Amino acid sequence: MKKYLVVGNPIEHSLSPKLHNYWFKKYRIENSIYEKRKIEQKDLLEILEKIKKGEIEGANVTLPFKKSILPLLDRLEAPAAETQSVNTIFRENGQVIGTNTDWKGFNQTIKKTLLIKEKKMVDKNIFILGAGGVTSSIIYALKKIGGKIFVSNRTQKKAEELKNLFPDINIIKWGEKPPKCEIVVNTTSVGLNASDELNLDFSDYKDNELFFDLIYNPKETNFLKEARLRGNKTINGQLMFLYQAAFAFKYWTKIMPEIDNEVIELLE
Ligand code: ATR
Repeated sequence: MKKYLVVGNPIEHSLSPKLHNYWFKKYRIENSIYEKRKIEQKDLLEILEKIKKGEIEGANVTLPFKKSILPLLDRLEAPAAETQSVNTIFRENGQVIGTNTDWKGFNQTIKKTLLIKEKKMVDKNIFILGAGGVTSSIIYALKKIGGKIFVSNRTQKKAEELKNLFPDINIIKWGEKPPKCEIVVNTTSVGLNASDELNLDFSDYKDNELFFDLIYNPKETNFLKEARLRGNKTINGQLMFLYQAAFAFKYWTKIMPEIDNEVIELLE
């Protein structure tokens, strides 16, 4: 039996097993199973050893280990090194390699939603809220699309630290915003509880901007609801989640699963 894992803490709510096991069945990849496991930092080495020995085929890594796993890997692919964030692990020529498909999930979703190709936003402003674990993947993805990137975080120091990885970004004070933006992305955890409010004033952003919230449960955060009511385009994190999983699946099986209505319904 080929075994795959998603490791994190907490992990109970992860939908990754449902998704990957559905794809194993759909694409007739036999004797493969994907499970979730709640772990502590000290358990990471043992899991990587098992991947090295072939007892585990591959893994996804989620909060809070996406950064702390970096030094334990044999090699990092460029997106993982440049974002300092790993969400996918695979084995190649006996080495255990870390990569990042979160950025690709976001990149693919933005391109599909706005019907754009790479580097098509060179003169547009993009506003990112938050500077948590996933934010570097979002910046990395947006850099490929082009545009001037602004980042704002309640704790400004954390946004400043992102400048070490991405010197071109512009940091702005929490509560302030760039004059006009094409895309506004919420990467904070505000909205995970349905009543959460960011308390930022976007009332003058009503010009068909795209508001993107990485949160997909609840489906519509207050951030998205208010944007929709002002007439903006909105999208939640569901497609990004599906695509990051699909790209991970491709690393392990060489098959790129289709993102169709059936798989979207599976997550409903
Ligand atoms: P991660 O594990 O992803 O790094 P995190 O560091 O807790 O998670 O990041 C969560 C993000 O949501 C941070 O940008 C955090 O802002 P701070 O750096 O100031 O903590 C943001 N966040 C959480 N609660 C918030 C709130 N009530 N208002 C504004 N931002 C908030």
